[in-house]
Amino acid sequence: PSTTAILSALPEEQDGLIALLHQPRRTTHAGREFWQGDLHGQPVVLALSRIGKVAAATTATALIERFGVSRIVFTGVAGGMGLGVKVGDVVVAEDFVQHDMDASPLFPRYEIPLYGQSRFKADRALTTLLLEAADSALRHINDGDDPWAFPDARVHHGLMASGDRFVSGAQEVQQLQSALLASGHPVLAVEMEGAAIAQVCQDYGLPFAAVRTISDRADDQAHVDFPVFVREVASYYARTVVEKFLGL
Ligand code: ADE
Repeated sequence: PSTTAILSALPEEQDGLIALLHQPRRTTHAGREFWQGDLHGQPVVLALSRIGKVAAATTATALIERFGVSRIVFTGVAGGMGLGVKVGDVVVAEDFVQHDMDASPLFPRYEIPLYGQSRFKADRALTTLLLEAADSALRHINDGDDPWAFPDARVHHGLMASGDRFVSGAQEVQQLQSALLASGHPVLAVEMEGAAIAQVCQDYGLPFAAVRTISDRADDQAHVDFPVFVREVASYYARTVVEKFLGL
């Protein structure tokens, strides 16, 4: 049976998932821990990408080369950049761009040199499942009397921007947003891993999809909102979305 890798960036996002694992086996490889086991009757490997594009690419490569996974799903948090993308909302990636890639004037801004492209597509089939899982997770989380319910939370689907920067300023958001928009990339959310994993998965011909809960608005409050959300809510969202996803 084909194995699904479930990647998160932070231990808080992964904790709830390890607890659900049947017959967990832990392996250390490339300075990382990999958890193999069954989740919802399906073989999975859980791993932490760590933070940033290089760390995420290394983890994705290890999952493919060493653990033989056949698809990769990322679950984590992101900063909301699009209009109406609020804390507690969920963004399912349609595609990815590396917002810190700039080999201009040799190549157009954002284009990955020698790839001839500046966006990487998320896998259609996996993404459809994630959209359904995110919808049903939001209903589950926000219909209850949970203290952390976000009653008007929504699922969005669109472009995710990744780069080696924690974005934490309204002005920076505006600059990023208008620069990306000018080259035809209206962005919904910003994070630090997705587009790197997407590039690795394209190289290997593996399906990849990502779901991110909005922990902050990447603005001047982001450094305050982010740790609180990660500590209090991220694990609950990640676990609920993954359980719905594997149950589909
Ligand atoms: N992940 C969550 N919030 C983020 C932000 N503001 N910038 C980059 N990555 C993030």
